[in-house]
This record gives sequence, structure tokens and C-alpha cells, in this order.
Amino acid sequence: MRKKEQGREPETLNLLLRALFDGVSEEIMLVDQEGVVQDVNRVFLDECGMNRKDVVGQKCSDIRKKHGVLCELGSEYCPLERAKKTGERVEMTRSHGPEGIESRRLRRIMYPLTSEGPSRLFVEISRDVTEYRNLIRELRASEKKFRAILDTATDAIISIDSAHRIVVFNNAAQEIFGYSRDEVLGEDLNMLIPPRYGDHSRFVKRFLETRTPRVMGKTLSLRAARRGGEEFPIELGLSYYEMGTDITFTAIIRDVSVQRQLEKKLLQSERLAAVGQTVAHVAHEIKNPLMIIGGFSHQIKDGLRDPKAVQKLGMILDEVRRLERLVADLGDFTKVYSLVKRQANVNSVIQDVLKIMTGIYSPGPHGFKADLASDLKEITCDPDKLKQVFMNIITNGIQAMDAGGTITITTRNTPDNVEIRIRDEGVGIREEDLLHIFEPFFTTRDRGSGLGLAIAYKVVEAHMGEIWADSEPGEGTTFVVRLPILCPETNTSQTSDMET
Ligand SMILES: Nc1ncnc2c1ncn2[C@@H]1O[C@H](COP(=O)(O)OP(=O)(O)OP(=O)(O)O)[C@@H](O)[C@H]1O
Ligand SMILES: [Mg+2]
Repeated sequence: MRKKEQGREPETLNLLLRALFDGVSEEIMLVDQEGVVQDVNRVFLDECGMNRKDVVGQKCSDIRKKHGVLCELGSEYCPLERAKKTGERVEMTRSHGPEGIESRRLRRIMYPLTSEGPSRLFVEISRDVTEYRNLIRELRASEKKFRAILDTATDAIISIDSAHRIVVFNNAAQEIFGYSRDEVLGEDLNMLIPPRYGDHSRFVKRFLETRTPRVMGKTLSLRAARRGGEEFPIELGLSYYEMGTDITFTAIIRDVSVQRQLEKKLLQSERLAAVGQTVAHVAHEIKNPLMIIGGFSHQIKDGLRDPKAVQKLGMILDEVRRLERLVADLGDFTKVYSLVKRQANVNSVIQDVLKIMTGIYSPGPHGFKADLASDLKEITCDPDKLKQVFMNIITNGIQAMDAGGTITITTRNTPDNVEIRIRDEGVGIREEDLLHIFEPFFTTRDRGSGLGLAIAYKVVEAHMGEIWADSEPGEGTTFVVRLPILCPETNTSQTSDMET
């Protein structure tokens, strides 16, 4: 009985091996060292559509050829040849088929089964990986498409993983934030967020815990930090996707700093226009009574004996003169007047202004320094109106330096503009005041009318230029005026209205 059982064991083993041989999903072929097929499995027969008896005893390369795989025994790409040479497992993945036609891709592994000798056997396990290759190709193509979209987008596209590390950073992101992709990939997103907002990863953690997408799909107005720490306003849309346990958050970010500046300017222009109309009316109403008060006061003063009355009338006349100056300024600010444009060098405008200013302020504690670019481009402008702009700015600078100091004026060409910088060493302007200094009637001075900069703003705006101030309290102030080199009307002497 025991003997019988023992006798069945090799038979069972054989059946098992056969089942395995036929059951695996790879093609298996047993060849001798001449490439003559000794056996093949079911998958092999299914793939080439042949019977075992038509295969066994044939050269492997002939069978392969019949099946569209150009295979030469003994060639450098023959796995049998290599396995014979090396005596080791050989793995090759090659495309087979006529050139230019979609070919089959086979992954072939050849093992020497027995050691050296004439009856040496080799087993080849092969798998058709054509579909796999095509899948990879499709994946690469769609990845390329995705990259192209990413990199042609004008908005920054940034993705982070659940550990808050940056995993996608497109070209626009590089430009907007000033970092290269290599510098940020794998880094914490906090590097792009102003530190005063604290650790941003808490929002990601909270989302992972609660799964409440409070901000997903909405447009948020926030601030971000460029390389070097400069903060700027952004608009941001957020989305996320999950793959298994992996979660990726993607933000599309628009730099809205230019837009915000334009909105601010527009608001300023609108305010100026609204205020201007009221002011024009009031100024007109005040002018005539003022002339009458001034004229009669003169006449009365001439006939007065009482010194006290003369003194009082003198004070009335002083105030009338001040009011007349104010009305004249208001006129400058409100009336519809024209720019008389011609080609001029801003340097000579500044030199004229400096002559007047040194005439008024020297000798005294205030000095003037000019560093004017010798190659400054000529521009089409109204030099008289620009004179007024520079006088107003310089006068403010002097008034900001009670104890004296120097006003420094520099000029230079930028690609599209001539730039004039007027720097003082005065008290500086508080951040909250900086927003208002160009508004009419904004003043912090006891006897100021708050019109000097409003007029300057209007003149510069009429030149299609820009004006702004950089200032730190206690550190002085720099006013920057930029005037375009190529004004819309360039070569003729024209007028353009400065209407309020
Ligand atoms: N260089 C400066 N340094 C400090 N503050 C300044 C400077 N220039 C302007 N300012 C601030 O801006 C305000 C507005 O200036 P603006 O010239 O329009 O009016 P003002 O000087 O007060 O009056 P005015 O109409 O007589 O010029 C000033 O009152 C002052 O607070
Ligand atoms: Mg002023």
C-alpha cells in the first residue's frame, strides 16, 4: 500500500508541474542549445495559434517569425545566444516588427536550465508588453499635455501634498514668486506665505481632520510673499483631489498687484473729479466778495489814523491775500486748462526750479543737490506745468525739514520713461497718510491747503505719467515722478485738457 502511494508521487508532481506550466500567464518555451523547441506551454500555443506538435522540434526563431517576431538565432539580440555565452539569466525587452509599423514589444527572460554539455537546455519566459508600452506612451503624452497647459498658463499653479510640501510649481509661479522650480519642489508651502499669517499647514491639517471644504472652489483675496519677502496681493482658487490615500491640493494664483494699483488710481481720479466740481463752484463764489473786501480794506486803511485800527486792517489784508492765494490754487486745481506741450528736457525744467528755490531759501539751513542724467531723453511735455509739480514737491520737502537739510534731485532714463526722484531728509509720512496725500484738501500742516500734491497729481496724470511717494516716518521721503518718453502726441505742439 505504502509502495503504491510512493509510486504515485512523481506522477502527481508531474501533473502539478504541467498544470503550473500551462497555467501561468507568461509564454514558456523550452529549447536546446541549437534553438530547437523541446516544449512550450498553453499560453505560448494560444499566442501563436499553433499546435504543440507543429512547434516541438522546430527552430524557435522560425516559430517566432511565423508569429511576426523577427528573430535571428545567433544574432546579438538573440537571448539564447546571450544565455549560452554568459551561462546566466538574460533579460531583454525589444520591439519586434517591420520598421514604421506599430510593433510588438516582448519582454523575454532566458535561463540556462542545465549546465554545459551537448544536451544543455534553456527555458524562455516571455510576455507581450505592447499594451503596457502603449499605456506608458499615452501616459507620457497626457503628462506632456498637462505640462504644456501648466507652463503656458499665465496664472501661478501650485500643488502641495498632505505634508504641505510643494509638488507642482509652474512657469508662471516661477515668475510671480521669483523662485526656480528646483528651489521650491519638496519645500514647505510656508515659504510663499508672509510669516505674519503663521504656520499655514494648520489649515491643511484641519481639512484632513474635518473634511469640510470651506474654501474649496471659492476665490479668495489674500497676500503672498515673493522671494526677498515682498508681500503682494493675490486672488486664489483652491481645489483638491484624492488618489487612494494620497491627497493633493492645487491653487491657481493670480498676482493682482497691478490691478489693485489701477483700482486705487481710478478711485483717486474719481474722487478728484467729484471734489473738483464742488470746489470750482465754491471758489467762483468766494472770488468776487474777496476782491470787494480786499479793495475796500485798502481804501479804508489809507484813511485811518488809529494805529490799532491800521494794524487790524493789515491783518485783514494779510488773510485776504492768503485766501486769494488759496482761490488761485483752487483755480489751478479745478479749472479746465490745457497742457501746452513741446519737446523739452526735464533737466532744464529742474534747473529752472532750483534757481527759483535757491533764490527763496538761501542763505538758510536748506540745501539743494542735483544729480541729473546727462543723457536724459527729451519728452513731449508742458514745462511750465511740470515746474509747478516740482516746486510743490520741493516746497513740501522743505516744510518737512524744520531744522534744515538737503533736497536731492536725480533724473534718469528708464526703458519707457524719464524718472525724477526728489528726496528730502524730513519727518517722513505715516503709512496711513501715504494713501491720502494726493487727495485734495488732505493736509497735516496748520496753514496748508492740501492742494499742492493734488495739483501735482493732476498734471502728471495729464502727461500720462505716474507719481508716488516712498516714505518712512523719521527717515525722509522720496517722491518719484515718471513721465513717458513716447507720449501719444509726440511731435506736434498740442494741447490736452485737464478736466476735473
Ligand atoms: N515731503 C514730505 N514730507 C512729509 N510729509 C509730506 C511731504 N509731502 C507731503 N506731505 C504730507 O502730505 C500732505 C499734503 O501735501 P500737499 O502739498 O498736498 O498739501 P500741503 O503741503 O499740506 O498744503 P499746500 O496746498 O499748501 O501744499 C502734507 O500736509 C503732508 O502731511
Ligand atoms: Mg504742499
